[in-house]
Amino acid sequence: MPEFDRIVILTGAGISAESGVPTFRDKGGIWATYDYRDVATPEGFEKNPQLVHEFYNMRRRAHQSVAPNAAHFALALLEKTHPGAVTLITQNVDQLHEQAGSKNLIHMHGEALKGWCLGCGTRMPWLGDMFLETACPVCADVGTLRPDVVWFGEEPYHMERIIKELEQADLFISIGTSGNVYPAAGFVQVAAEYGAHTVELNLEPSEGRTHFAEAIHGPATDVVPAYVRRLLDAALT
Ligand code: OAD
Repeated sequence: MPEFDRIVILTGAGISAESGVPTFRDKGGIWATYDYRDVATPEGFEKNPQLVHEFYNMRRRAHQSVAPNAAHFALALLEKTHPGAVTLITQNVDQLHEQAGSKNLIHMHGEALKGWCLGCGTRMPWLGDMFLETACPVCADVGTLRPDVVWFGEEPYHMERIIKELEQADLFISIGTSGNVYPAAGFVQVAAEYGAHTVELNLEPSEGRTHFAEAIHGPATDVVPAYVRRLLDAALT
């Protein structure tokens, strides 16, 4: 394997599946039970904020009872050990990457364990339930809180920095994402256009499989640690 300096990694729900966090589009996934238009759009929140709060209260509770798996830990080890830069972009709103030790991490779809007050603009850690009647702890406004996550139709966070990282990447790795949701699904093409080698690590071929130069299919807890070992071995030899 050639040596790479700048590594950019994109993760999706598949990396957290073996930690017990359900994915969205697999059989029995979140979108099999919920219509995303009801719980993950600004229009859904406007129509029925209580339902949206209940959905995120449930997910927030679930996220606090799971732990990182071997794939999260392997990416943290890569960041710590790789001699060049490693940037991790996640679409996941769970906190498993940071719990595993990743530091250079971008939450492009926000974080379930954060709240955002639309009244005073404050973003804050949020571990408990949130309701329509909950007052903002900063400005005391009522009815202005929402989960600090990106919904369909909203601009993902940190896009300017992400594009810069993709343009400078020597290696782009996509892990556990179905390739259905843009702009993340288009990152492989940006990275490839700017000269990066591109790799997909996923349980099965994703929607974007043909855009990747290399693909390894299997459970994240197998394929991610194995791929990280290959990268670290190549850097040492
Ligand atoms: P999806 O549910 O669309 O895709 C998960 C991918 O992970 C699928 O391709 C699975 O084959 C794969 N997978 C499942 N188990 C795996 C395992 N153990 N190891 C490796 N891969 C596995 O989830 P995302 O692509 O992350 O956005 O979805 C992207 C966005 O759509 C989410 O961030 C969310 C969602 O709607 C918003 O809510 C805005």
